[in-house]
Amino acid sequence: MYDVRTIREDFPILNREVNGKRIVYLDSTATTQKPRKVIDAIVDYYENYNANVHRSVYKLAAEATDLYENARKNVGDFIGAKQEEIVFTRNTTESLNLLSYTLESSMKKGDRILISEMEHHSNILPWMRLEEKGILLDYAKIDSNGYLDIEDFKKKLKKETRIVSIVHQSNVLGTINPIDELSSLAKENGSIFIVDAAQSVPHMPFRVNENFDYVAFSGHKMLGPLGIGVLYGKRENLENLQPFLRGGEMIKDVDFHKVSFEDSPIKFEAGTPNVEGAVGLSAAIDYLQDLGMDNVRTHEKQLTKYLMLKFADNKNITVYGPNEAEKRGGVVAFNVKNSQLLRKAKNEGIRLDDFIHSHDIASFLDDSNVYVRSGHHCAQPLMRTLKVTGTARASFYVYNDFEDAEILASKLGDIGVQ
Ligand code: ALA
Repeated sequence: MYDVRTIREDFPILNREVNGKRIVYLDSTATTQKPRKVIDAIVDYYENYNANVHRSVYKLAAEATDLYENARKNVGDFIGAKQEEIVFTRNTTESLNLLSYTLESSMKKGDRILISEMEHHSNILPWMRLEEKGILLDYAKIDSNGYLDIEDFKKKLKKETRIVSIVHQSNVLGTINPIDELSSLAKENGSIFIVDAAQSVPHMPFRVNENFDYVAFSGHKMLGPLGIGVLYGKRENLENLQPFLRGGEMIKDVDFHKVSFEDSPIKFEAGTPNVEGAVGLSAAIDYLQDLGMDNVRTHEKQLTKYLMLKFADNKNITVYGPNEAEKRGGVVAFNVKNSQLLRKAKNEGIRLDDFIHSHDIASFLDDSNVYVRSGHHCAQPLMRTLKVTGTARASFYVYNDFEDAEILASKLGDIGVQ
């Protein structure tokens, strides 16, 4: 049984009080809190196993290497991939940059890349870089409910489209994109299909399918430590790519003017890797597996439904993204009007923005230890589409409960007159 009370006890930071009050942490889309098991695994690594990996022959180094490689296997098992298809990076951003730099050599002027209007900057800027080489970047539109416009996606999927790179779950709208359908369309078109899974792998059952060429996600958004990320690539894809960074450990042989590279994934992991990060991520995956990813998804869905119902009772709140909890993750972006202030300003002939600035909302909530993110959420093109400068955003994870949602909704009820 999914018992959020017991789960909360596993997270030391959630048991911390600030000014005598509980922390209402609603920013797991930015980064998640860490359970004791993950913290302990990292401490255990440093207390008992620390050594550099893949280099030395002594026992400690062999044990550290085993831990590192077992972590890779655990990540692979978690998403239905083979161990050698998992490359450790720093984060989703680095995984997508790796692809941008290594796929570049196979692209020419006039080729196109298709993304969407709801992408995070990490799935925009690496591709925008290629515009300097005459490669064209297309954005599939979103509709007024925050769904991807599939007809527009199809229209923009042209014969020159070499790469399609799409977010699985939006970090703002919460929209869950029909990634299987999109991957089939991309493959029928002969395009490389990339999934930005930073907000989906942590929150729902996720398996790679044969149409996914690459998948990127981050450890710190799934209870793991900061600074460890993942790039999944189909084995034949990775074998055909040149390395991104060059240096220690990723070679078979180096002569004065010649080098042969290790097989993937090692060929993409130049320099000493983040072993502690891999070990921590592996412990995070064990923790999530124990909870069950179906249960995680169901729990977040219930919280999201509950919060959206509460928000629907407050006419000052505008929520962005799909109405159906079934088609969205546990992310609720919103803006708040102060009707009383707006009325007063209007009477006095003063022009005020409709919405209270999202940073002011976040600061107001902070006074009650309610932690939400505000601003553009690293998705400024999406903000332009939504015609706002920013939003406040609450996001849920395994440890949030109905009380968290209740406190947020009731604090927002204190703003303005309804
Ligand atoms: N991508 C993270 C967020 O949406 C940082 O907050």
